[in-house]
Amino acid sequence: MRRSVIAGTGSYLPERILTNEELSTMVDTSDEWIVARSGIRQRHIAADGELTSDLGTKAAQAALDNAGLTANDIDLVLVATATPDETFPATATTVQHKLGMTGGFAFDVQAVCTGFIYALATADNFIKAGQANRALVIGAETFSRIVDWEDRTTCVLFADGAGAVVLEASEEAGTNADRGVLTSHLHADGGKHDLLYVDGGPSSTRTTGYLRMEGREVFKHAVTNLASVVNEALEATGLAPDDIDWLIPHQANKRIIDGTGRKLKMPAEKVVVTVDRHGNTSAASVPLALDEAVRDGRVKRGDLLLLEAMGGGFTWGSALVRF
Ligand code: ACO
Repeated sequence: MRRSVIAGTGSYLPERILTNEELSTMVDTSDEWIVARSGIRQRHIAADGELTSDLGTKAAQAALDNAGLTANDIDLVLVATATPDETFPATATTVQHKLGMTGGFAFDVQAVCTGFIYALATADNFIKAGQANRALVIGAETFSRIVDWEDRTTCVLFADGAGAVVLEASEEAGTNADRGVLTSHLHADGGKHDLLYVDGGPSSTRTTGYLRMEGREVFKHAVTNLASVVNEALEATGLAPDDIDWLIPHQANKRIIDGTGRKLKMPAEKVVVTVDRHGNTSAASVPLALDEAVRDGRVKRGDLLLLEAMGGGFTWGSALVRF
């Protein structure tokens, strides 16, 4: 059976680190408040002129190197982002060009913090349908550009970064026959627009706008929706929480991550956490966390990974992947 397997992972974080201490000189906040409410201690911020496509290209190149492939082996580039370089063309086509590719097809996926899960599911379906053989699935964001740096309720949470995987078709039998994306589950509820959105855009205000969020409401929905979408993935495959080797959640808030882990009765050591150092990098957070855990040796070939995320829209989703 044709499946799509992860052949390589990569990530990139901008050099500049913004600590909670430094933030507390910019807005009325404190390291204690930020750590207690979100678990975030620091985040990375892109340099002036460093674009989402630059971050995405570096993460993609790292994933290609990790897979032992070159850009010309790829026929599909997906960039999950809510912070594209420009309204159009798609950041994915810019990444395609920066990687030196001259073939294949490329487009962006916009599902905010759930973007990587949506993009992974999309690439998986293109591969299973036979319309692509090797896809770069990238989550890349420069949320520092849409954060209102005078709004302490949001500017302490969001950050910049990129992560990527190479997804490739496999028809291998035998010991590797159970590798790949086993199942994915996507949801949206546009009725929750006002709880998390950007108050600008080309068609509404002709401006870029700033991120606006009812944090407490988002929190409540996140805990409920994530619990239901991870159960959906388990039920679809007949697998149990005990079967999962690693929970790789969207890194929005340590309390939300802990809540999902507790509901699954997952020991904390099996939950990959980067939010303390990365902040919330939206669509980049899941592939960033995955790449960190692959590179430090935690995630190994054959491990069962449960990925999940929730974001503006609302959108939410999960994927079970045999690495
Ligand atoms: N520093 C100090 N005080 C602050 C700050 C700050 N940075 N921000 C808000 N406060 C104050 C508020 O003004 C409020 O003061 P008041 O009681 O005098 O009115 C108080 O702290 C409590 O504010 P709440 O918003 O009720 O705090 P809460 O415990 O809900 O934590 C937070 C806020 C961290 C935003 C939390 O609600 C949250 O994480 N929500 C989820 C948001 C999220 O993760 N969004 C990402 C996208 S969706 C997703 O990825 C899941």
